[in-house]
Amino acid sequence: MSTVAIPGVERVLFTEEQIEHRIREVASEISRNYEGRSIKLVGVLKGSIFFLTALARYIEIPLKIDFLGISSFSNRSGAPGIVRIAKDLDDGIEGEDVLLVEDIVDTGLTLRYLLQTLSGRAPNSLSVCTFLDRNSRRLVQVPVDYRCFEIPDRFVVGFGLDYNQLYRNLTYVAVMKPEKNS
Ligand code: IMP
Ligand code: MG
Repeated sequence: MSTVAIPGVERVLFTEEQIEHRIREVASEISRNYEGRSIKLVGVLKGSIFFLTALARYIEIPLKIDFLGISSFSNRSGAPGIVRIAKDLDDGIEGEDVLLVEDIVDTGLTLRYLLQTLSGRAPNSLSVCTFLDRNSRRLVQVPVDYRCFEIPDRFVVGFGLDYNQLYRNLTYVAVMKPEKNS
């Protein structure tokens, strides 16, 4: 899809070329750090699919892939961040080196929940790789081991990230116009 086809898009933040280049760098870092081992990439549906498949192609150690799906909702007072697993992993992770792959870490609430849940399943190690990191909106401190890009406090779409489930298939990351923010 081209930018002109997207009415709500303000500007491109990262081009396809920039994304590709940065993902290759992060994949090399991961390959070096886990040299001699194999890892399991755990993707969080649906946003991380595009990033996970791009990353996996450049990782040079044996790897497995599994996915989990979550739903997040607000409590009665409107506070965000209540998360539950809607689709669990197909297989256990006991004794494995797990790399949790996220599209974006924003408040950190989703990641905190996932780390708590997965660490209870006795993996050998558990690390986090996120495509985007919006550190300015963090509500809880969470460890992020690998990040491709730090982003400003603006709503973004593309490369897996959606606005009302749309625009995940953009090959670039774009900032939405303010009136389209949710
Ligand atoms: P948090 O870190 O728990 O606040 O939630 C992160 C989740 O919110 C991500 O996995 C996305 O699904 C969603 N999200 C946060 N910021 C954006 C954005 O700018 N565009 C699209 N989705 C977003
Ligand atoms: Mg997500």
